[in-house]
Amino acid sequence: MITLRTATRADLPVIADILANVQGQADPALDVEAQRTALAADLENWFGRDEPESLLSIIELDGVPVGRLRVVRWPDRIFLGGIQVHPDHQERGIGTELITALIEEARASGRELQLTVDKINIGARRLYQRLGFRTESETVDELHLVIPVGA
Ligand SMILES: CC(C)(COP(=O)(O)OP(=O)(O)OC[C@H]1O[C@@H](n2cnc3c(N)ncnc32)[C@H](O)[C@@H]1OP(=O)(O)O)[C@@H](O)C(=O)NCCC(=O)NCCS
Repeated sequence: MITLRTATRADLPVIADILANVQGQADPALDVEAQRTALAADLENWFGRDEPESLLSIIELDGVPVGRLRVVRWPDRIFLGGIQVHPDHQERGIGTELITALIEEARASGRELQLTVDKINIGARRLYQRLGFRTESETVDELHLVIPVGA
């Protein structure tokens, strides 16, 4: 069963491990061990300084941490600020389940759901397209995707 719980400072090593492994998946030349150490230090400085509307969660599969989810909820919109599932647990429907729940939350509360994805992240773009996101705008490197109100 997939569950979410609010991340605490004690989770930072786990989050660093998940992020380092996801980054290593995208860049096979990356030293995952060194990146894990660097990220753990960065996260220690960053933790607690996010905007107050932001909620950082640990994604658990049967009680075991397998990912990280950041969602920012404003009165008029919800921003999916980051989702990373450890490579060992990808492609099993975890992302689909969590993002579908966010889409339902946004629809039920009459809010737009927004996210930003790197143009080169073809896998994630396909997932978002399958879930109904539309391109609202773009920069050189990124797409801004939305599920508009009423869609
Ligand atoms: C994108 C991601 C959160 C999806 O989670 P998931 O649990 O693997 O998703 P699901 O099993 O529900 O669906 C799999 C979909 O994710 C895509 N996907 C799988 N591995 C991926 C990867 N390493 N990076 C990006 N997308 C990936 C697949 O293309 C698949 O899409 P499809 O079903 O339309 O073919 C997860 O793959 C991940 O953490 N990727 C790396 C980090 C990332 O790209 N995050 C999104 C940033 S905007």
